[in-house]
Amino acid sequence: MKLMFRPLLFHFLLLCAIQTFGVKIQSDPEVNSEGVIQTELEKIVSLVCHSDGGHEAQVDEELVWLRNGAVVSLTEENKKGHSSVCVSPVIYEDDGATFTCHLGKNATVKASVTLNVTYHPQLSGLEEVAVEEEAELVLRCDIWANPTVSSVSWTLNGSAVDLVAGGFSLTNDGFTSQLTTNSVERSLHEGTYQCTVKSPIYGEHSKQFSVTVTGKTLKVPLMPMIAGIVVVCLTTLFAVVSRWKKITKCCK
Ligand SMILES: *[C@@H]1O[C@H](CO)[C@@H](O)[C@H](O)[C@H]1NC(C)=O
Ligand SMILES: *[C@@H]1O[C@H](CO)[C@@H](O)[C@H](O)[C@H]1NC(C)=O
Ligand SMILES: *[C@@H]1O[C@H](CO)[C@@H](O)[C@H](O)[C@H]1NC(C)=O
Repeated sequence: MKLMFRPLLFHFLLLCAIQTFGVKIQSDPEVNSEGVIQTELEKIVSLVCHSDGGHEAQVDEELVWLRNGAVVSLTEENKKGHSSVCVSPVIYEDDGATFTCHLGKNATVKASVTLNVTYHPQLSGLEEVAVEEEAELVLRCDIWANPTVSSVSWTLNGSAVDLVAGGFSLTNDGFTSQLTTNSVERSLHEGTYQCTVKSPIYGEHSKQFSVTVTGKTLKVPLMPMIAGIVVVCLTTLFAVVSRWKKITKCCK
C-alpha cells in the first residue's frame, strides 16, 4: 500500500512545498488577526510552534525560537517538529515583545507573534506629607499604563487644584504626573490632595496625599550671634573695670 502511494505523494509534496511549507504558532491566549496576543501582568502565555508542511519529512524538522531576535534556549526534546515556550509570569518588559519561530535549516520559513501586555497605573492609598512653610512641595503620581491613560486630574480638598492661585506647576512625562509649588503657604497649600487617573480599560485609580504645613524652623545665623555675645561680654567687662576703679577711688 505504502509503496503505491509514494509517487503520488511525491508530486503532491512538490506542489505543496511552495504553498503550505512553513511553520505555525498556536497560543493560549489566542493570537488575534494582527498577530497580537492580548495579556496582562502576572498572567501566563504559552506558545507552540509546529512545522506546518503536513508531511512526514517535516515532522522532525528542527525549530528555533527567538524573543526579540535573541535565540531562546530549548531542550533537545523541545526542538523537533513542534516546540513550546512559556512566558510565566508576564512582566512589563514583555509588552511589545515579538516571539518568532523558524525552521533550523531555513530561517526565512518563520512565524511571529507579538505580546500586548496591558496594565493600569500603580496608584492607591494615602501618603502623609509634612512640609515647612516657604519650602518646596512636590507630589508625584504614577501614570504609566498600557493602554495610555485617558486623563489625569488633581484635586485639593475635593475641588480641582487651582494652578494659578496656588502657584503650582504641573508636569507629565508619560510615567509620572508631578504637582509642584515653590513656596508653601499654610492657608493656600495645606489639605488633602488626590490624583485620579482614568484608563480606557481599567477605569479609575487614585492616590491621596495628606499635606500638613509646619512652622518654619528658626535658622539664626551663627557668626553674627558669636560677635554679639563677644561685644556683650566685653562691654560688661569694661563696665566692671571702670566701676571697680570708681569703687577703689572711693575707698582711698
Ligand atoms: C528557504 O525557504 C524559502 C521559502 O520557502 C525558499 O524560497 C528558500 O529557497 C529556502 N532556502 C533554502 C536555503 O532552502
Ligand atoms: C493593546 O491592547 C489595548 C487594550 O485592548 C489596546 O488599546 C492597544 O491598542 C493594544 N496595543 C497594541 C499595540 O496592539
Ligand atoms: C483643606 O481642608 C482642611 C481641613 O478642613 C483645612 O484645614 C485647609 O485649610 C483646607 N485647605 C485649603 C487650601 O482650603
